[in-house]
Amino acid sequence: MYKGIILAGGRGTRLYPTTSVVSKQLLNVYDKPLIYYPLSTLMLAGIKEILIISAEDQYSQYERLFGDGSHLGISIQYKIQSKPNGLPEAFILGEKFIGDDNVCMVLGDNIIFGNELDTILKISQTGTGGTILTYPVRDAKRFGVVEFEGFDRGKVISIEEKPTHPKSNCALVGVYFFDNRCIQYAKELKPSKRNEIEIVDLCKKYLDQGELTVNNLTRTMTWIDA
Ligand code: G1P
Repeated sequence: MYKGIILAGGRGTRLYPTTSVVSKQLLNVYDKPLIYYPLSTLMLAGIKEILIISAEDQYSQYERLFGDGSHLGISIQYKIQSKPNGLPEAFILGEKFIGDDNVCMVLGDNIIFGNELDTILKISQTGTGGTILTYPVRDAKRFGVVEFEGFDRGKVISIEEKPTHPKSNCALVGVYFFDNRCIQYAKELKPSKRNEIEIVDLCKKYLDQGELTVNNLTRTMTWIDA
């Protein structure tokens, strides 16, 4: 079984001054707050138990918005991330919530839509180990980048976080499926140069075990890192 985590951290500095009082993920995108999009992704994946992780001064806003989630037919819990120490910290903070289950984490500012999304989210829960998604982009330097062997993109060679010279145009989408080992792996990670533990390093742990699956989204779908 998969539980879901939405990581709604970050200070949203590029949207100051609004984000000095309101979390970025609560600002409207079209007709609803940004966080509804990652929440819909988890719901479409069939996940019903969700943990929203946010900064201390923001978490009550989410709690007022969603309560316990029962009006949406799901269960929502909340957890504070006191400092942005990196994405994999979500699995450490969520350890009790995850329990013995698998987990799907969606970043709070990732919007994905398209006809095949439903199928891809379901398939991504059938593998063992870890499953990540990629999307073709023009400006790969801004993202985690996955390098493949050959044109069929079957085998992963490397994964790098915001490389100066990207080895492909396949960006790592902010939706990650991991088995329960991710909690232990996250605890073993060492901070990178920017003093955060990195999601690419967690993915590499699965890659080293030969247990990382990559599902490539095509341009028939849309992915926005808002
Ligand atoms: C994070 C991840 C990056 C991923 C991106 C997707 O970057 O570190 O690997 O490609 O999310 O949204 P951030 O947007 O936090 O800089």
